[in-house]
Amino acid sequence: MAAACTRPVAPQDRLLANEAVIDAVIAQMTLEEKVNMLHSKTNMSSAGVERLGIADMHYADGPFGIREEGVPDGFQSAGWQLDSATYFPTGSALAATWSEDLAYDYGTGMGIEARLRGKDVILGPAINIQRLPVGGRTYEYLSEDPALSAALAMRYTQGLQDRGTAACIKHFAVNNQETNRGSVDAQVDERTLREIYLKPFERAVREGGAMCVMPAYNKVNGDYCSENEHLLNEILRGDWGFKGYTLSDWGGTHSTMGAMLHGLNVQMTGSNYLGQPVIDSIRVGRLTEDMVDEKVRQILRVRYAIEAIPDDVANTKMTSQPECREIALRVAEKSIVLLKNEGGLLPLARDVKKIAVIGQNAVLKTQSGGVGAGVKALYEITPLEGIRRRAGADVEVAYAPGYKNFPGRRWGPAPAQPDPLVAAAIDEPADPALLSEAVALAREADLVIFFGGTNKSIETEGSDRADIDLPVGQNEVVKALAAANPRLVTVLISGGPTDLRELEPVSPAIVQGWWNGTEGGTALAEVLFGDIAPSGKLPFTFPVRLEDSPAFALGNFPDKTQGGDLFTMLYRQDLTREQRAEIMAKLPKPVSRYTEGLLVGYRWFDTRKVKPMYAFGHGLSYVRFEYGEMKASVSRKAVRVSFPLTNAGQMPADEVVQLYVSRPDATVEWPAKELKAFARVSLQPGQTETVRLEIPLDDLRYWNVERNGWELEPGRLELLLGAASDDIRRTASVTVTGK
Ligand code: BGC
Repeated sequence: MAAACTRPVAPQDRLLANEAVIDAVIAQMTLEEKVNMLHSKTNMSSAGVERLGIADMHYADGPFGIREEGVPDGFQSAGWQLDSATYFPTGSALAATWSEDLAYDYGTGMGIEARLRGKDVILGPAINIQRLPVGGRTYEYLSEDPALSAALAMRYTQGLQDRGTAACIKHFAVNNQETNRGSVDAQVDERTLREIYLKPFERAVREGGAMCVMPAYNKVNGDYCSENEHLLNEILRGDWGFKGYTLSDWGGTHSTMGAMLHGLNVQMTGSNYLGQPVIDSIRVGRLTEDMVDEKVRQILRVRYAIEAIPDDVANTKMTSQPECREIALRVAEKSIVLLKNEGGLLPLARDVKKIAVIGQNAVLKTQSGGVGAGVKALYEITPLEGIRRRAGADVEVAYAPGYKNFPGRRWGPAPAQPDPLVAAAIDEPADPALLSEAVALAREADLVIFFGGTNKSIETEGSDRADIDLPVGQNEVVKALAAANPRLVTVLISGGPTDLRELEPVSPAIVQGWWNGTEGGTALAEVLFGDIAPSGKLPFTFPVRLEDSPAFALGNFPDKTQGGDLFTMLYRQDLTREQRAEIMAKLPKPVSRYTEGLLVGYRWFDTRKVKPMYAFGHGLSYVRFEYGEMKASVSRKAVRVSFPLTNAGQMPADEVVQLYVSRPDATVEWPAKELKAFARVSLQPGQTETVRLEIPLDDLRYWNVERNGWELEPGRLELLLGAASDDIRRTASVTVTGK
């Protein structure tokens, strides 16, 4: 009896707490009231039923800060005063922490601020796999690896929902490119789908209890995600037991019958499919009211699970809160990746008295820009500000822009006063005047810090990068700086990988600094000056050349068919419904083939023995860690390993330990190795701790396409323990029996 009472309720089943109340409410609703809940009310809300005391659902982007309030019918600023939020490090930065605890805290930070703004559902986290180095939304997404993405997605979701706001995980599924995203058909085999692309969603739903899911713009294996029977009904609701509701990506609903029959609850935005046409279809007997009731029930479950904030309580305080800014700082501190540190150039020596900071990315704010989610941050400490504050009065910090900046796709009108430092093209060569100013400064300085990378106009929603080259002649600038002063530290400010073939040989020290949130500059300065040891690890591979990465090597990307981007049409107010339909019918039908299968990211590089520039999981420290002997055992439920880890350095530091598995005798195809467990460990100088890692046997199963189910193949497993995917320190071998 006691055992039955204390048995934990599965996260999705918590949504079933109010079924009786929901029955009673549905019984009182008119068909019109019900259908009114199946589409948007404003650009960021869907309706409740005022007469019955059911509040509207209020949405906000997501994923890295609560987005500025928009006008009711669009994304333009509403011009509010209290909606400045905390800008959290973007997705790839969060993932570089490899910290489940920080992902949880990040979620709580988002939740706290969402509540202040009266938001019920956050459109995030964004958890698609980073399949392409050029992907426009790489910075929003977490990792190229499903296990890392899944663990962080689950914890972010829990943190957010523990603070009383629903997570809407996005974009479900296989939205791995922006090119033609509104119409592209991602053709992916079932095993790859389950093991790679769905894993983060599965954990966020099953273990994280995500209450909402956003079907993506694209098609998967022939059907739009918003009406994809396999994804929404069979897998999400059937296999994973999802009890909440789905809302289409903005403009991503495509038909009344498809959406009604195949798993969509709410059309965002508009009502042309899930408004009056639903009522008409019921009248002519093509749909039934029971179908509508079921969809309303799923929405109401979330409505009752989330406390509605009354209008006069919401938005009475500034959104950005000190405790959330503190979380943003902690995430930023642990995300910075030291890629290279030849000759121990970092941390900065105490005798450095004059620093030349070169490069516009040192002063660029990254909270918004480009298309899509951004944050109106209460403040944002840029790298230059962070360095100046930390350097204090004794150290002179001089700045030169070094290169022009580059505009790209962006919302809203062009600035009235064009900035003379903004160039027209991203592949323009270095500007001679800016270059010579930078070189002169570098010559006089004790040390140079060059800030390169991309910006939010280049890495943006709605388009992919054409390549991963460093823009506007940055290679030329960095080479000239290196010739002028060999004490050169390079900091890359970007959300995704860049081509470092020219920069790497001339830069003794390289740091990946990300788009690191409100306190990004503070965290960066702490790392550069050695107040803390860097401890981030790459969540994706830096290829040597773009063509080395799997989708490019196999000719799967770029798409051969262009011009199918329905998204670019969505916001054209000048088109009538008929004109849109006509244009859509004529759109090409682009396809994206995923023939690399399981070999995404490092799985490809390792299996095909292609050497990357920097491997997945790579990241150096200012201390040395010693990995002691690993002990491994297998129980009925899990593989367990333990080993002593020692901080052999002079300062406190964190290490992210990584456990990969390889299956040398497998009868089915298997990548050379796969990440199966990891942990972030904090150690004082000289301290040794026994680290324990566990791999549930369930995580070692593969998707058996013939049996259509998960299966554990018996046999030998090689356990590879290390500091990076290419830095394995200890190995052991165990045998599992199948199940
Ligand atoms: C994006 C979503 C976002 C939505 C609302 C879409 O264009 O793909 O990620 O949540 O807009 O802003």
